[in-house]
Amino acid sequence: MNYLAPSILAADFCRLGEQLDVVNKSGAQYVHIDVMDGMFVPSISFGMPVLECVRKRTNLFLDVHMMVEKPERYVEEFIRLGADGVTIHVEACDCIEQTLQKIRQLGAKPGLAINPDTPIDAVLPYIYLVDMVLVMTVQPGFGGQKYITKCLDKISALREIVDSKYPDVKIEIDGGVRLENLKQNLDAGANVIVTGSAVFKGNISENINRFLEIMG
Ligand code: DX5
Ligand code: ZN
Repeated sequence: MNYLAPSILAADFCRLGEQLDVVNKSGAQYVHIDVMDGMFVPSISFGMPVLECVRKRTNLFLDVHMMVEKPERYVEEFIRLGADGVTIHVEACDCIEQTLQKIRQLGAKPGLAINPDTPIDAVLPYIYLVDMVLVMTVQPGFGGQKYITKCLDKISALREIVDSKYPDVKIEIDGGVRLENLKQNLDAGANVIVTGSAVFKGNISENINRFLEIMG
């Protein structure tokens, strides 16, 4: 099963509610929430108040991507505010096992993310604890960047491991995903597709329909 996760980072924040209404009716299954702290990544995006409002406006799966140093400080609050999935970065947390266990104990789905330069070996010791591995396909911190093609090999290698030992684990990709490179990412084994600018720039429901047609 493939899942589409529009990233609200690319939304018009002056019209976020209306744009979420469009996403709600579109067939997308997730809403991807890119939380950036200005430390782990250069940008600062948004935090608890936005998550709280988004939760009230959609019943879709809230897929929170924490580009945050020491995310363990915030997972409880984010889950209380309505996060359905919480993905932390392997590069940002020095108590990964405990944090992933805590996310699950609090009733959310734990995910682990790796940056483009981080090998997939970095997630393997923890893969038994997660519902999803996020393979970043751009350097985290900004939307609208160019897809880093070397990540395709990481996705295929991870898909092989997941299919052989952890068949319930999803593989999410995030960054620079467009209609033009979508099929090759699906073929490589990604099944949760984050996309921001390719959805929110232009006609949102038409953009989402085009992704869903290819995703099946
Ligand atoms: C990077 C962000 C972006 C965003 C999607 O830190 O995580 O990847 O979600 O950006 P687009 O789809 O606009 O490249
Ligand atoms: Zn993201």
